Amino acid sequence: MISFKDLNGNQVTLAFVSQAFSMKPKHVFVICKYQNKWLLTKHPYRGIEFPGGKIEKGETLREAAVREVYEETGGLISNIVYIGEYCVEDKQYGTFVKAIFYAEIEKINEKNNYYETDGPLLVNGDICDHLNDREYSFLMKDQVLKESLKRIESMQLLN
Ligand code: GTP
Repeated sequence: MISFKDLNGNQVTLAFVSQAFSMKPKHVFVICKYQNKWLLTKHPYRGIEFPGGKIEKGETLREAAVREVYEETGGLISNIVYIGEYCVEDKQYGTFVKAIFYAEIEKINEKNNYYETDGPLLVNGDICDHLNDREYSFLMKDQVLKESLKRIESMQLLN
C-alpha cells in the first residue's frame, strides 16, 4: 500500500489489490486510451482529468466505468481491466474508495450532452508531461495516476 496526502491535505491510500479496504469502492476512475492517445475530459471545476464518477444503484463497478466514460466523453470501451483502488479520507465529504480501471476505447461517438463535462479531450504522448499544467485537475497530480501508469505498463497493457 502507498499512503500520502493529496493536494487538499486529505489522506490517500492506494493499493493494487481488490477489496483492499473495509469499505467497498463506490466511485470509479478510468484511465482511457484511444488510438494511442489518452482520452480525458474536463470537469467543470476541477479541470482536465480521466473520466469517472459515482456508481449508481444496482450497478457493478465495471458498468459504472462504461457508463461514466460514455457520458463524459462518448467513448465506447472495447477492453477494460481492473488496476487497483484507493481510499480518500476527505475531511468534508467523508471517506470513500475509488476503483481504478484501464480501458481501451474503440470508438468515440459525438453527442449533444456530456453531462457536466466538456466532452472528449485527446492527449498525445506522455500524459505525465502535462500534469503540472494549471488546467489539469488536482486528482491527476498525485501518486495515484503515476503509480497506476507504472502498474499498467508492468502489466504490459500499453501497446
Ligand atoms: P462530481 O460529483 O464529480 O461533480 O464532484 P463532487 O466534488 O461533487 O463529488 P466527488 O464525489 O467527486 O468528490 C467529493 C470530494 O472528494 C471532493 O472534495 C473531491 O475533491 C474529492 N475527490 C473526488 N475524487 C477524488 C480523487 O480521485 N482523489 C482525491 N484525492 N480526492 C478526490
